[in-house]
Amino acid sequence: MTVRVLFVCLGNICRSPMAEAVFRHMVDEAGLSHAIEVDSAGTGSWHVGERAHRGTRDVLARHGIPYEGRARQVQRDDFGRFDYILAMDDDNLHDLERMIPPGSTVKLARFLDFAPHVPVREVPDPWYDGRFDEVYELVQQGAAGLLEHIRREHGL
Ligand code: 4NP
Repeated sequence: MTVRVLFVCLGNICRSPMAEAVFRHMVDEAGLSHAIEVDSAGTGSWHVGERAHRGTRDVLARHGIPYEGRARQVQRDDFGRFDYILAMDDDNLHDLERMIPPGSTVKLARFLDFAPHVPVREVPDPWYDGRFDEVYELVQQGAAGLLEHIRREHGL
């Protein structure tokens, strides 16, 4: 059985690609890449097909984490394909809640709800202020908490 995880932000070029890359790296290091699949998407369509923002690519490169993904927009069928859909902020969560098809069993949550010790619930958008290092620290905390939760929940 494969657990499928989708990270979602607005543009799919800054926060959710970073979460995807960091979480996949963590999954690989834990030897669980056969059991957990990871992807990311944006609620908006402006950047579809683009590479991640340079700020995200730079911070990942500095930490030795590979990322080759291209931006895509969330689709309705993602709600049937993924077990977990994790929103980076409250706007993303509300947009996703409006898209959920009836009967979907997806676990939709804020990413940082898996890091309850972190004092913020939203991953701030670095598009305007360039604080990619701060985003990286939050993403690390969220990814560690999420992996722990999935391991426990799915016996991995
Ligand atoms: P992201 O950041 O949602 O973390 O990928 C943004 C990227 C692009 C825009 C806003 C946020 N934009 O307005 O184009």
